[in-house]
Amino acid sequence: MSILILGAGGDLTKRLLLPGLASLLSVHDYDVQVVGAAREERTDEQWRQLIRDSFGQITDPHDADRYLESARYITADVTDAGRLRDLIAACDHTPIIYFALPPTVTAKVCTALRQVDLPEGTRLALEKPFGTDLKSARALNRLIARLVPEEQVFRIDHFLGMSMVLNILGLRFANQLFESVWNSERIERVEIVYDELIGLEGRGGYYDHAGALTDMLQSHLLEVLALLAMEEPPRLNEVELRSNAAQVLRATHVWDDDPVASSHRARYTAGQVGDRSLPSYADEPGVDPALETETLAKVTVEIDTARWRGVPFTLRSGKAIGRYTTQVRVHMRPVPEIPGFGGAPAPDSIMLDVKSGAVELGVTMNGSGDPFTLERSTLVAKKEPGDMLPYGQVLRGILDGDPLLSVRADMAEECWRIFEPVIAAWRKDEVPLEEYPAGSLGPEGW
Ligand code: BG6
Repeated sequence: MSILILGAGGDLTKRLLLPGLASLLSVHDYDVQVVGAAREERTDEQWRQLIRDSFGQITDPHDADRYLESARYITADVTDAGRLRDLIAACDHTPIIYFALPPTVTAKVCTALRQVDLPEGTRLALEKPFGTDLKSARALNRLIARLVPEEQVFRIDHFLGMSMVLNILGLRFANQLFESVWNSERIERVEIVYDELIGLEGRGGYYDHAGALTDMLQSHLLEVLALLAMEEPPRLNEVELRSNAAQVLRATHVWDDDPVASSHRARYTAGQVGDRSLPSYADEPGVDPALETETLAKVTVEIDTARWRGVPFTLRSGKAIGRYTTQVRVHMRPVPEIPGFGGAPAPDSIMLDVKSGAVELGVTMNGSGDPFTLERSTLVAKKEPGDMLPYGQVLRGILDGDPLLSVRADMAEECWRIFEPVIAAWRKDEVPLEEYPAGSLGPEGW
């Protein structure tokens, strides 16, 4: 197939998409042509060099050679129907049109594509954020539905290509130990935390219009929540898995339906993260401080199903935080006091580290040398994440025509619906925008 990347001049193509493709092609054989298109002037040779460099980050740059001859770059306004026709004509095979574009431009391209005869079997791959709110996501879904059938639409969430995120399913459904306690009777609360050391890294133009809530919680962390909380799918295919994920999302709402009490937002001020000094968010290039964009968001939700009613799920993600944390933490309910034992039996817990692939069970055992004094211990299991980058995994699904690991239309809408009350409360300033120094663990008391 031909992968036609719209917005190929951007950071995503260089940093994630092409290295992801390299990691896929170094393990699996696909006959692909890579066509780049963007407003920026660039020659075919420069485009080939970019592909070669991206391969070089992952494997031997010469592994790129077999894809270079057919690779093309076309300077174009990709919102123009005539130019889109030219781009599709430049594809040697059936195109995968990859929208590496901001949501408003994606919507314009989809409108223009209505005037273009798309070759049979054309697939569309769309980057997040999918729309800018529920209304625009619905409108985008309607536009897309007029272009190709839903099975040919791939809404990208690269967390669904992370091996540890997918391991949630195996861990839950293949172990008596977990599945039998995976409910509100045994579990007291769940946290999904993705705190990063990095700040804006030059992405101010994009990030300032997204913020932590849209950039991370509304997309990635809700997908993790869906896998954590779903019922076992009768078969592992795109219909069953995504239907069960969608069911969780449909049942999810802000805790107590109170977006003010259940959400927090903050942004970083100048500080030191490791050996890097970061300026205050408001002084980062491309930032309009008046937009009051948050760089740290925390929201608690409830999943209103028999299995989960009454269990708070807290989603949190921040930038420029002093400790890199990519964890799902499941806290069990405490056991009743055990007569005759000393020590404090802290409730057991299960921690999944999304990035390192570690699973840690926090358990209480008898103390060393004293059988009747309880102490805390940790059991650790570790799975190496494997060589394939999450973007490689996601691209594999697109090339295979299998949308198992992509976000279905209704799921994308539900993700917006869940946080609409929070967005509205933040817009009305009902939740204060707090501050934290870069390199700290966030505002006091979070
Ligand atoms: C991206 C967000 O989707 O995911 C980034 O836009 C974030 O802001 C990134 O840093 C986190 O994923 P990863 O794979 O880089 O840990």
